[in-house]
Amino acid sequence: MSVRISFALVALFAFSLALAAAAGGQARAGDQLAQAKPQPSGDAAPAAKPAPSPKDYGVTDTARPSDPVLMGGFIFRQRCAVCHSKKEGVKLAYGPHLAGIYGREVGSTDWFRQSSALTEASFSWDEEKLDDFLQDPKKTVPGVKTDVVVRFKRSRTALIAYLKSLK
Ligand code: HEC
Repeated sequence: MSVRISFALVALFAFSLALAAAAGGQARAGDQLAQAKPQPSGDAAPAAKPAPSPKDYGVTDTARPSDPVLMGGFIFRQRCAVCHSKKEGVKLAYGPHLAGIYGREVGSTDWFRQSSALTEASFSWDEEKLDDFLQDPKKTVPGVKTDVVVRFKRSRTALIAYLKSLK
């Protein structure tokens, strides 16, 4: 009888030891995971500023912002700003500035790489000319040195609304 009881006690003791070891193992694994996580540190590089989104301006219907000037501004930043500045004072290497483009005489900036095709053309930029140019620049100004096309009418309309707002 007593042999059986002490055997049971030994077995229970061994079992609880095994449980404790298993729990300890888990805890250690947990500690390692915690250490593997990146720790916030003061000298880490600052996170890159996220690109502005229509949501930052309170626009919720982002697929089709209701304000065309706002929509046009986003298209401009994505499709045009790499080559064109919206300010007269800022000179970019890849295209003439577009400040006051609406109503401006074609090819009338002092941009140093302007083609003679552009300077020799003679009209001022209105809605129709801009819309044509953005569909097919070389047809609107033969020989012009750009072939950036904005395919959708809705995008061109928004873009032109934005270009009109550039003073
Ligand atoms: C890869 C560079 C590049 C991109 C992107 C670009 N353009 Fe241009 N754009 C040019 C260049 C270069 C010229 C001048 C071409 C010449 O001198 O023949 C020009 C000329 C123009 C002109 C005529 C300017 C004037 O003074 O008469 C307008 C308007 C224009 N671009 C609008 C746009 C719009 C709007 C977008 C965005 C959808 C755009 N461009 C994207 C390079 C670019």
